[in-house]
Amino acid sequence: MTQEQLIETVLLRLADGLPHSLADINTDDLACALQQLDAWGLQPSQDEYSRYSIVRRLNLLDQAAINRTLFQHKLQRTQQDTQQGSVLVFRSLDSTNEFLLTQKDLPSGTICTTEMQTAGRGRRGRQWHSPFAQNLYFSLLWHFQTQPEKLKALSLVVGICVADTLTELGVENIRLKWPNDIYLNGRKLGGILIESRIFNQQSQQMVIGIGLNLAMQPSDAEQISQPWANLNESAVKIERNQLVATLASRLQQALQQLEQCNSSHYLQRWQQYDYFYQQPIKLLLEQEEIHGICCGIDTDSGELLLKTEDGRIHHFNIGEISVRALHNQKI
Ligand code: BTN
Repeated sequence: MTQEQLIETVLLRLADGLPHSLADINTDDLACALQQLDAWGLQPSQDEYSRYSIVRRLNLLDQAAINRTLFQHKLQRTQQDTQQGSVLVFRSLDSTNEFLLTQKDLPSGTICTTEMQTAGRGRRGRQWHSPFAQNLYFSLLWHFQTQPEKLKALSLVVGICVADTLTELGVENIRLKWPNDIYLNGRKLGGILIESRIFNQQSQQMVIGIGLNLAMQPSDAEQISQPWANLNESAVKIERNQLVATLASRLQQALQQLEQCNSSHYLQRWQQYDYFYQQPIKLLLEQEEIHGICCGIDTDSGELLLKTEDGRIHHFNIGEISVRALHNQKI
């Protein structure tokens, strides 16, 4: 057995959070495996009967189970569905986006997910906190064979897919904050980071990264500077493997549709999730701050619509703009 296989064996045996004897494993090998579990923040410990346990029960990602469910979703879709990509599951990576950006020869539609990221990244060069087995770190590779024009609202389409997926799984009160944030109960639940890679001039290859907080421990989130939410605050219990498969399926379907038609079919539904719709907001541009009422988005371009005091409606492109509630009264 390789060291990696041994770590996996110990992880699977301890994943239920209960005490287990690991007396059948050679002492040095076990010490190495426990060291790795400790580095993942699982705090393995030994009780008075020499049984080992970890700090909490884990709902681990399971590559075979996710791909089985994804395949079932595919069978239920139309016959025009030719999508190939399957899901790759890791226990730890630097970043799922980085993995898909740097691996050559992966088919379009490949999905990468991991229990932990050591260098998870957010927008604007920020770090994305990625503790072990508590959240969802998900990236999808797509080779677009379409005009770049069609992709300008891609992150909004992805946001709607995430919101649809969570709503389909029974989560209530999911909202989207233009252009890339997913909100639950008025706090940030997750975000989207889209990056492009250039391996092939024939197609535009994009990596769509999604991070969602599921059951993050407050002690692992001390450095997060804004109010955040966990999916486990909602009344429904979300099974992580089902979430990955459902999200993967919805995204693959949406991106195929986006290539065949355009994004307005999706963007028309932005309003149902719009966190700031008809609310007073301020836009933080590079040099100035603009106040007004949020009037949703332009469903062709995905631009944000802002009505200023003089009654004019202004359009804002997805770019380096931050949107904030004007007063801290919000919703
Ligand atoms: C944001 O700043 O709101 C976007 C966060 C995106 C985080 C996800 S987690 C999976 C993927 N891999 C990364 O390194 N980042 C994205």
